[in-house]
Order: sequence, then structure tokens, then C-alpha cells
Amino acid sequence: MEIQWFPGHMTKTRRMMEEDIKLVDLVVEVVDARIPFSSKNPYLDTLWQRRPRIIALNKSDLADPDATKAWKAWYERQGFGVVELDALHNRGLQQIPELCRSLLKDKRERDARRGMQNRPMRLMITGIPNVGKSTVINQVAGRAGAAKTGNKPGVTRGKQWIRIKKDLELLDTPGILWPKFEDPQIGTRIAFIGSIKDEILDLYTLAVELVAFLQRERPQMLSQRYGLEDSELRATPEAVLEFIGNRRGHRMAGGAIDVERTARMVLDEFRMGKLGRITLEYPPEEALQR
Ligand code: G4P
Repeated sequence: MEIQWFPGHMTKTRRMMEEDIKLVDLVVEVVDARIPFSSKNPYLDTLWQRRPRIIALNKSDLADPDATKAWKAWYERQGFGVVELDALHNRGLQQIPELCRSLLKDKRERDARRGMQNRPMRLMITGIPNVGKSTVINQVAGRAGAAKTGNKPGVTRGKQWIRIKKDLELLDTPGILWPKFEDPQIGTRIAFIGSIKDEILDLYTLAVELVAFLQRERPQMLSQRYGLEDSELRATPEAVLEFIGNRRGHRMAGGAIDVERTARMVLDEFRMGKLGRITLEYPPEEALQR
């Protein structure tokens, strides 16, 4: 599916991100645990290079737990710190301060030798839209008693920092990255999980693609949720959507099945995890074994 995605504020957003990143020691890149590769933006690799970074596999409550473990190990092998989060239910966030200390250990020792031992570590949250950046910040801020440290005159004018621990401060606005669209499959996966505004998408086509994906990869999810028979599962994805619409009584005046309504419902239910926990992609070596 071709997705034309030109966010109006991209240049401004990019500039802000490039300014903010200069103020921090460490970046937490929030990705969606259902698509840990497609929701990760390679631009950060250029901008931040090999400096300390945490990959936060968020929405792990919606992903397949074994796949999340495999992704965690895979990113750790590449030298990233990795946390598994369910920011909505405040799970996993408490690991962040310890991970920051361990990733910044060498730098902090160097700072200490130069007499700068009292400077707190600073971090920022980044990621593409809808991966849960604001939820992470709000949970962390809530836990820290919303202890905003205020502006730092001369150094970080206009920036608000949230003191998480005595030695750790978080920038209160996330850095927004944009999805990578060169590969159409990546765009489709991001659209499946709802990280692209639905207004710019053809929801029926997207739902057909999602049903086709599920028929191929997880037919049991479709049969369990929508009570489809084996023969129905083998039909075209368009026909499967009609079967589902029929089961749910989605009819227009005149009696035809309202497939647009069914398409939206299937997408919504999939995104909310009502079909079950699912990961849409696997680390390369895992994918080969599957
Ligand atoms: P963003 O700043 O990266 O754009 O994301 P934000 O925090 O606004 O979160 C986007 C949606 O994802 C929110 O749902 C939020 O509640 C949900 N969310 C965040 N973290 C988690 C998580 O760990 N698990 C689950 N299941 N959901 C999470 P929303 O308010 O309903 O928004 P929307 O999905 O209707 O846009």
C-alpha cells in the first residue's frame, strides 16, 4: 500500500529535535513492541550515532511476549540499552534510571575526574507519533511528583526538566521522529498499528491488507474473534471482511453489508489488542527460523 505522508511540521519538528538533542546525555527511543523495527527511525542513528541510547519496547502488553524478549536480546547485542514497557499500566519504567546510570558510567567517571560530579544526567524521549512518548513522560513525571526543575538560566532557556531522581533529569517535551516510508511494507505496518493519521489512509484497503496478513500469519485470531469457519478463512480478504460484517450485523439501508464500517471495526479491534497479542515482525535471525 502506497502511503503519501507529508506532515506539515516536519522541518520545524526536525529542527527542534536537533536542538533539544544537544542538551542531553542520553536518548530514549520509544518504539512500538509490535513493530520494533518499523517504528524505529534510522535518522537517529545518524544524528546520535553510537552515543548512549535506550530502546523502549513500549505497548508490550499488546505484543507477543516471546517476540519482545527476542527483540530485546537483538537490540542489546547491537549495544543499545533496552527496556520492555507497558507505559499505559506503568510497567517497566522504574528500570530506566538504573539503565541510564549503567550506560553513562564511563562518562560520569570522566566528569567526576574533571570535578563535575554533581551534574545530573539528562535524557530525552523520542519516537514516531503514537508510540507512547507522552504517556511515558507523564508516568515518569507522576512518579517523580511532577518535580519540574524550571528553566536553567543561560543554558537551557525555555526548557522544562523533570527531576526523576537526584541524579537524573528528563526533558518534558518529546523529540518527534517521523516514520520511514521508503519501504512500503514498513508504512503498512505502521498504519496497521495506528501510528499514521487515519484521515490520510484508505481504511478499507488497509483493512483488506490486515485481513490478508492475518489469514497468512494468524488465521486462528480471525476465527476466534469473529467465529469464522475454515472455508471462510480461505476466501479472499475482501470476502472475509464481508463475512465479519455479516456476523456483526453491519448493514446499510437496503440490506447490503457496510464494509467500510466493518473495516474500521476490524482495524480498531486489532489495534486495541482484542484479537490477541501479536508482533508483526521478528529480528532477522528469528524470522529465518519461522
Ligand atoms: P505519543 O506521545 O508517542 O504520540 O503517544 P501517546 O503517549 O499519546 O500514546 C498514544 C496512545 O497509545 C494513547 O492511547 C495511549 O494511551 C496509548 N499507549 C501508550 N502507551 C501504551 C502502552 O504501553 N500500552 C497500551 N496498550 N497503550 C499505550 P489513546 O489516548 O487511546 O490515543 P489513541 O490511540 O486513540 O490515539
